[in-house]
Amino acid sequence: MRINIYVILALLALLGLVYGPAVAQEEAPTATGNFNSCIECHKLMDAEFDGLVEKFLNSVHREVDLSCTDCHGGDSSSMLIQVAMSPDAGFIGKPDRKDIVFICDRCHGDQQLMKRYGNLRTDQLALYKTSIHGQALLERGDTNVAVCSDCHTAHNILRVNNPEASVYKKNLPFTCGACHGKQELMEQYGIDWQIPEQYLHGEHAQRLFEGDDLGAPVCNNCHGNHGATPPGIEHIEDVCGNCHLKTEKYYNNSAHAPAFEALGLGKCLACHNQHELQKPTDNYLDASADANCVGCHSEGTEHYETIAAMMNTISDIRGMEEQASELVDDTERTTHLSMHEMIPRVEQVRTHLLTARILQHSTSLDDMLANEEEAREEFNQISAFTLKLLERSHFNKMMVVVLAVFLLAFGLLLVAYRKFVLDVLYPWQRFEGPPPDSQD
Ligand code: HEC
Ligand code: HEC
Ligand code: HEC
Ligand code: HEC
Ligand code: HEC
Ligand code: HEC
Ligand code: HEC
Ligand code: HEC
Ligand code: HEC
Repeated sequence: MRINIYVILALLALLGLVYGPAVAQEEAPTATGNFNSCIECHKLMDAEFDGLVEKFLNSVHREVDLSCTDCHGGDSSSMLIQVAMSPDAGFIGKPDRKDIVFICDRCHGDQQLMKRYGNLRTDQLALYKTSIHGQALLERGDTNVAVCSDCHTAHNILRVNNPEASVYKKNLPFTCGACHGKQELMEQYGIDWQIPEQYLHGEHAQRLFEGDDLGAPVCNNCHGNHGATPPGIEHIEDVCGNCHLKTEKYYNNSAHAPAFEALGLGKCLACHNQHELQKPTDNYLDASADANCVGCHSEGTEHYETIAAMMNTISDIRGMEEQASELVDDTERTTHLSMHEMIPRVEQVRTHLLTARILQHSTSLDDMLANEEEAREEFNQISAFTLKLLERSHFNKMMVVVLAVFLLAFGLLLVAYRKFVLDVLYPWQRFEGPPPDSQD
């Protein structure tokens, strides 16, 4: 490959010597001009460089008329390598990893410039400096950490909402994973290298990739894009409440909130895993199963009975929810009458079940009992309505039988009457044939 490049280089230099000056004279080289020697020449060896010219030509930067020289310096009007890539023309070659954040920041930190492009934020470098990545690079000169081009690429930069972009939601776990999934690299820092894998096995990733729920978080929703944490979040343990508002509200009012803080336990993380997030089930509460409550509240301790009662309210409502759906289906099938009116109430019971599963975060048995009471009221209405419908159906069936008996009696009566008329009153008619042919 090296040989290849040098052969090309020699040929190109020759080519440049012959045509370079002529081309440079003919086409006035401007930033927006069509001729760009960097592109023309590098196109010829794109295969050697991972197709970077092709990528650049499709990038957002090309859309806004950036050129190779905006990042690399050099003279894009000359096909002469010695001129085009000369340090005298400001050419820096492949940028040093330490310098990349400043190269990007030249434009991205410039408010005046970015105003022209729909007010793009200009705080990326400022935020980056607050992150572990930024501190490692800028304070300790550690070039193993992520710089702008590790997350955004150098030449394939697309708008962040483009599904092909390296930072697009569904691609990001793999972009971070390129480093965070590397065992040798992460072990140097004592960081778990299996985090990306764990995340992909967790419930949030299931929702995102299987359920196509773009509201589910990936790495940057919890860790921030450029800063140490997302905007408005001081401690990362607080991040869950950004999306799970109700749950956090209940948790904040619980007996656990102050107790866990005193114990130095990370809020939600005392019971849920941030990366390999399991789908929670009622079993979490069920003391007889693999509960995560019994770890602290084992049998015989003060709150054990309370937790059992909390668990019961959830199972009771779950029972009601299942029964209510069955009642609606069965009644409609057997009576052929509509239970449509009850659908909103079935939904209500379902909502109370969801509420119960969230409400247990409050550790308040009273609130859970009140919630169960409300669910039971809905359920009772459904039962009462079902009963009424069954009665109506019963009545209808009775009426059908009465009507059938009546019709039968009426029919018999008709037959009897006809028999009476024919046999008793006009017996001769019975044997009369058709009237004689009246044709002449
Ligand atoms: C006439 C051909 C030609 C022109 C014009 C040209 N290049 Fe190059 N460039 C090359 C070749 C060949 C190499 C590979 C050198 C090597 O691998 O040692 C190269 C290498 C590079 C590198 C990598 C250097 C490194 O340190 O690894 C960069 C960056 C680069 N060119 C940018 C530019 C820019 C920017 C321009 C326009 C201002 C430009 N080139 C114009 C042929 C050219
Ligand atoms: C937005 C800034 C930017 C623009 C525009 C840009 N580059 Fe680069 N380029 C970089 C950065 C940053 C690197 C270093 C990437 C890395 O470390 O992986 C790089 C690396 C390179 C390399 C070395 C690649 C390697 O694998 O060794 C070459 C060659 C190169 N660029 C050529 C070009 C050419 C040709 C253009 C125009 C078609 C261009 N670049 C446009 C930022 C830019
Ligand atoms: C650790 C990965 C990472 C690094 C390092 C990084 N970015 Fe980003 N960047 C992101 C993510 C993720 C987004 C947001 C994507 C989204 O909104 O879906 C983003 C968004 C952006 C945006 C769009 C506007 C905005 O702020 O949301 C720009 C511009 C940008 N980054 C530039 C930079 C620059 C310049 C640097 C270097 C100083 C940099 N990025 C470093 C991951 C990174
Ligand atoms: C010469 C100025 C300049 C340099 C240098 C530069 N950019 Fe840009 N960048 C722009 C402009 C202008 C836009 C287009 C803004 C727009 O139209 O939304 C842009 C767009 C972007 C976007 C897309 C933002 C969006 O709208 O989603 C990202 C990401 C980005 N640049 C990252 C980088 C990175 C990373 C570097 C360094 C490797 C870099 N830029 C270097 C000027 C520059
Ligand atoms: C180029 C490789 C690279 C990429 C890409 C990268 N990181 Fe990192 N990251 C590192 C390294 C190396 C460290 C260790 C720095 C240290 O501890 O000094 C680190 C540290 C971290 C830490 C701090 C861990 C701690 O010690 O508490 C977090 C959080 C983090 N990265 C998140 C991310 C996220 C999120 C992404 C993607 C948006 C990402 N990283 C992309 C290399 C990378
Ligand atoms: C739902 C939120 C969330 C998501 C999504 C998430 N993290 Fe985390 N991450 C956390 C929390 C919370 C911590 C724990 C911080 C602590 O213990 O101080 C953490 C810790 C870390 C650490 C430090 C671990 C250590 O051993 O020091 C790294 C590195 C990290 N996450 C990277 C990632 C990467 C990469 C992704 C995407 C694949 C990701 N995280 C996705 C919330 C999240
Ligand atoms: C960016 C928003 C966001 C953040 C941040 C977030 N989540 Fe989620 N989470 C979701 C979405 C969306 C779902 C799927 C829909 C739902 O059940 O609400 C979900 C689902 C869950 C589930 C499964 C719910 C179920 O019914 O199976 C749990 C448990 C969970 N998140 C806990 C957490 C924890 C713990 C944190 C913090 C470490 C966190 N989430 C951070 C948005 C978020
Ligand atoms: C004391 C342990 C504990 C703590 C602390 C905790 N949870 Fe839970 N969480 C549970 C249990 C148990 C369930 C399952 C309830 C069920 O399914 O019956 C659950 C269920 C969930 C669900 C799914 C409920 C649904 O709608 O499907 C989400 C989301 C959730 N928790 C988020 C959080 C968030 C966010 C925090 C922090 C504010 C948090 N949890 C703190 C134990 C806990
Ligand atoms: C990490 C240990 C730990 C875990 C796990 C834990 N708790 Fe607690 N719990 C505590 C502490 C500490 C208190 C407050 C001190 C006390 O009253 O004993 C408490 C108090 C309670 C109370 C009493 C509330 C009141 O108002 O007095 C209830 C109920 C409760 N927890 C339920 C649960 C449930 C349900 C789970 C599982 C989903 C759970 N706990 C998991 C440690 C824990």
